[in-house]
Amino acid sequence: MNTPASMESERRLNEGAYRELLASLFEARGQAWQGGPPATHERHMQRGRILVRDRIELLLDAGSPFLELGELAGEGFYEGVAPGAGIVTGVGLIQGRACMVIANDATVKGGTYFGMTCRKHVRAQRFAWQHRLPCVTLVDSGGAFLPDQANIFPDEGLFGSIFHNQVGMSAEGIAQIAVVLGACTAGGAYIPALCDEIVIVRGKGFMFLGGPQLTQAATGEIVDAEQLGGADMHSRVSGVTDHLADDDAHALAIARRLVGELPPMPPPLRDRVAPRDPARAVTDIYGLIPRDTRKPVPTRDVLQCLLDAGELSEFKAEYGETLITGFARIGGWQVGVLANNGVLFTESADKAAHFIDLCCKRNVPLLFLSDVTGFMVGREAEQGGIAKAGARFITAMSSAAVPKFTLITGGSYGAGYLAMCGRQFKPNAMFMWPNARAAIMGPEQAAMTLALVKRQNLKPGERWSAEDEEAFKAPIRRQYEDFAAARNYARHLWVDGILDPAETRETLTLLLDLAARVPAPATRFGVFRM
Ligand code: COA
Repeated sequence: MNTPASMESERRLNEGAYRELLASLFEARGQAWQGGPPATHERHMQRGRILVRDRIELLLDAGSPFLELGELAGEGFYEGVAPGAGIVTGVGLIQGRACMVIANDATVKGGTYFGMTCRKHVRAQRFAWQHRLPCVTLVDSGGAFLPDQANIFPDEGLFGSIFHNQVGMSAEGIAQIAVVLGACTAGGAYIPALCDEIVIVRGKGFMFLGGPQLTQAATGEIVDAEQLGGADMHSRVSGVTDHLADDDAHALAIARRLVGELPPMPPPLRDRVAPRDPARAVTDIYGLIPRDTRKPVPTRDVLQCLLDAGELSEFKAEYGETLITGFARIGGWQVGVLANNGVLFTESADKAAHFIDLCCKRNVPLLFLSDVTGFMVGREAEQGGIAKAGARFITAMSSAAVPKFTLITGGSYGAGYLAMCGRQFKPNAMFMWPNARAAIMGPEQAAMTLALVKRQNLKPGERWSAEDEEAFKAPIRRQYEDFAAARNYARHLWVDGILDPAETRETLTLLLDLAARVPAPATRFGVFRM
């Protein structure tokens, strides 16, 4: 029985477990902030250069937020490389204008690009493109990390896509400014070369398609770096660069001036009312999320902690109750909320499609709060046409041209993950809470399914004891658990990052503000199977 004392004890246990998850998240973030090992920091500073995080701080307005994307990308992928893959990407304010900042960390393997570095750069560009944000790129990179060429060179979405995106954005009038603060070699030199304006630091910034060693190897010509691609040469002789700076700080000040000369930030096209605090403290979420990941998140309580005044103007409250839909405000911006509250049935899927249609007609952004084991299965559900209803939900969600944001609050599985605007449906941004999980199915279900298949395929007379079955299932369970973890999604860049629940409102408020400044095209729905 749930007595007040037992509920309080549950809450405390949940909160204790949650704070451990947060401690682990903050530790990983600390490593990402550190970048390269201390010795490389010292070397960098002895060369009269500023560390990447300090550069960003100098570039941004004092007190500006910095919404980082892919902060933990690549965690554990490359030996001796901190989470973040040697590049920092995020949105901050320069001269009051939101910009995408993309900055190489030269203390991590000379700022070279691994496969994940490429993907993170490309993701930052796509976010900038979608929100029409100017890009300021702080270039300090030796180009490709040569041993990782298979993940850098051949495919779409990798290094070459950076150039493709630069050209596409430029053609659409999205400003790009490069600040060359170190050596930019080969591919690294094209990144600034494809920008609108280039600032370069005298004696520190170099741009060349082939460095002195490569030039000597290729042509026999012996030439020093300064003559080959130094700041003075490019500013006075080749005309490759546009603004000559004395040092890092001067270059960043010039970049701030250049952003100040851009046309002003477009005004918001949606109304914002005065923000109100939620009905409950957002940190209450720590005690609300069950420490047993198999249990669902208490969605209505969580909404009280996330929405302005905890208010949700609910749509179809009494119908399809396993999906909560309604209009609310976050930081004063209106959103259409779709939040799971159980397994998806035909009714809840149809309610979702109807609600998404309303939001599209009214130009209201969609917020998906994902915590769902999937769509209902079984004879009754199939005969009730759940496949059609699920398809209608996916058609509505996928077609919706209003801004879409996805936050995985709990466990998000299978087609439920997809329908709740999974990454494949290109939400403007997608985050997970530290407790969140996502996979094709839960660990127990996967182990059970594979064990059933194996049992069916036993040869006549072959025995498979309960112990054998458990020994078969245990590693599958473990593999699924590791796969589903938020940290695994963040390191693969399958989400933009992991948010402490306490950061969620601030993050969504900033995202809604950015999205409000871009006209939303009219939605054209695909065919709805009736
Ligand atoms: N591929 C793989 N590893 C590279 C690399 C590259 N292109 N460039 C640098 N590294 C590694 C170095 O081996 C070193 O590794 P370690 O820390 O394990 O010893 C680390 O990155 C730092 O390089 P280092 O030369 O010590 O640092 P630096 O600050 O003095 O110089 C560069 C950095 C980038 C200017 C210099 O390393 C360089 O010119 N690299 C070659 C760049 C190039 O030709 N790229 C072509 C890409 S197509």
